Amino acid sequence: AKRSSFVVVANRLPVDRVTTEAGQEWRPSPGGLVTALHPVLAKQRGTWVGWAGGTGEAPEPFELEGIHLHPVPLDADDLERYYEGQSNATIWPLYHDAVETPVYRRRWRESYREVNARFATAVDKVAEQGATVWVQDYQLQLVPAMLRERRPDLRIGFFLHIPFPPIELFMQMPGRAEILRGLLGADLVGFQQRLAAQNFVRLARHLLGLRYQGNTIKVDDRTVKAGAFPISIDVEEMEKLAATASVQARAKQIRAELGDPETVVLGVDRLDYTKGIEQRFKAFRELLSEGRLSVPQAVMVQVATPSRERVEHYQTLRVRVEREVGRINGEFGRVGVPAVHYLHQSYSRTELAALYCAADVMMVTPLRDGMNLVAKEYIAARADAGGALVLSEFAGAATELRQAFLCNPYDPEAVKETMLRAITVAPSEAKRRIKVMQRHLRNHDVDRWARSFLDELGGA
Ligand code: UDP
Ligand code: G6P
Repeated sequence: AKRSSFVVVANRLPVDRVTTEAGQEWRPSPGGLVTALHPVLAKQRGTWVGWAGGTGEAPEPFELEGIHLHPVPLDADDLERYYEGQSNATIWPLYHDAVETPVYRRRWRESYREVNARFATAVDKVAEQGATVWVQDYQLQLVPAMLRERRPDLRIGFFLHIPFPPIELFMQMPGRAEILRGLLGADLVGFQQRLAAQNFVRLARHLLGLRYQGNTIKVDDRTVKAGAFPISIDVEEMEKLAATASVQARAKQIRAELGDPETVVLGVDRLDYTKGIEQRFKAFRELLSEGRLSVPQAVMVQVATPSRERVEHYQTLRVRVEREVGRINGEFGRVGVPAVHYLHQSYSRTELAALYCAADVMMVTPLRDGMNLVAKEYIAARADAGGALVLSEFAGAATELRQAFLCNPYDPEAVKETMLRAITVAPSEAKRRIKVMQRHLRNHDVDRWARSFLDELGGA
């Protein structure tokens, strides 16, 4: 295998191999992790180890935009136990405040361990002596310790893209000490938020009796640092994309296709129960039924990208969301004028940029979210400094985007009032808010995120 001095390892590669009737095709992988890491790797020219999508034999290593991609295979059992089970029915809900009940299964844990070992073996093969290895996200929490055992020569960093739960919640998890020891295999463990880093160091003392000073934990004869590194987007790329004539024309066309309403309200999320999609619809429905909003003056567009479709929590969410859309359209739509345009599809960055530019109000209302890059993309896309962002206090992005219309998504009245405030805000006030947030983002783009993590790791 080709050896590299900089290796990123994530569950997914930046591209996803999908089997359709026409055969196999490659698509960009879903989610914020890939959005953020792809531009970083394209500049650093390292190796990316990850799953290529699908089951069965992995494709041979290949090059993509200057990145060396090294696929790791998953079979049907791994998919069910490691990916859908332990990663997305146990750890994902537990780390997101248990907004859905985490499911615990011994077979899933075993599979998680096996697959993590497989990723560690793959990294061992491609990392040259003294290389820097950057492990990503909750699917691979055992990899740092597994790697260190084999390769004490490596600098190992770990970054968690999702929240890290408070001690009381983490303590629920069967096999919790194994996970913690896995993470402590890294030299630096990065989180989105200061509070998460704090949860982590306190947990190390609580569960393993380790001593710490500030954010540095003493583990045997080594030290492990924890820190907050809020992730971001390629701000310049989004600004440029949104400013192109074709995106601007498409934004106008979208508004026309919607019937040129006064107010276009937008949501863009993976169809995930952490995103607060139902809370958003409920607010819209109640505002319509109280007569404080009306169709066709106001319409809502919701992109709900299919995600983790074989996991039960996602199936039941889909049923609830689609019932609610039907209810709203049934009650408040007219022939040719639906109140909610619901799109259970995946869109390109270009089409999303046009949607952002077409939207007067962007609703980002997660019950819990590590960061939420959609919120940052919306701000970056608005060169006209138009539009208004409604943002949940429980998104990591709320720590930075203080000029958004912040709300508590658990409080239906708060969501309604905040949505109305964003709809009716004076354009001058809306502009002032967006501009402050744009300035912040320009100084805190994804390059800075990667640089500050890698500088701290010391192997960049
Ligand atoms: N996204 C996309 N197409 C879609 C929906 C989303 O490309 O149809 C992208 C979106 O632009 C963003 C990412 O997926 O870059 C979602 O990241 P976020 O942090 O908001 O949420 P996550 O999906 O990682 O939980
Ligand atoms: C979030 C996670 C990523 C994950 C992405 C898409 O962004 O933090 O690790 O890749 O969602 O989810 P999926 O299960 O399709 O990989």
